[in-house]
Amino acid sequence: MTTLEPPLVLREADVDADFTGIISLYRGHGWSHAADPERLRTAVLCSSHSVVATEGDRIVGFARAMSDEAFAVYIADILVAPDRQRRGIGRAVVEALLERYPLDRFHHQVLVAERGAEGFYRRLGLVPVSTFGLTAFIRARE
Ligand SMILES: CC(C)(COP(=O)(O)OP(=O)(O)OC[C@H]1O[C@@H](n2cnc3c(N)ncnc32)[C@H](O)[C@@H]1OP(=O)(O)O)[C@@H](O)C(=O)NCCC(=O)NCCS
Repeated sequence: MTTLEPPLVLREADVDADFTGIISLYRGHGWSHAADPERLRTAVLCSSHSVVATEGDRIVGFARAMSDEAFAVYIADILVAPDRQRRGIGRAVVEALLERYPLDRFHHQVLVAERGAEGFYRRLGLVPVSTFGLTAFIRARE
């Protein structure tokens, strides 16, 4: 007997309705953002656009973007449930954001890759800033 999995659906996040599912993705990866739920809620609410991927009632993927809606977009917090990885969900949520901020209108789409995720972004066609003869600078906590 074959068990059919619910189809993957991509949609804009509804912060109130989806917050429990969204924070569970942060928790599932041990990200410190989940330690302060109200702060995380603010981050999602104040993002320019957030996408969830759902299977049935379950949120299995998430990503958010911050943009000036004219030239630049910064993509952050791409998360796929640990038991649902390597099924195209990460690609789907990132591509949904990249398509919302297309390069025929926007100068650049940027993100900071976590250790171990570089290969994922390369598969999606992103390249290190050095490819353009540029250097990215950052200030961050250790
Ligand atoms: C990184 C992450 C979002 C990838 O999501 P995913 O749903 O497993 O990725 P996909 O299945 O959509 O993979 C898309 C492509 O990237 C490849 N890929 C996925 N993860 C990869 C990795 N860590 N390293 C190299 N390649 C990877 C896949 O094989 C696939 O290749 P294909 O196009 O040849 O089939 C997911 O592993 C995750 O949530 N990681 C923990 C949180 C994290 O580090 N997020 C990134 C923050 S910068």
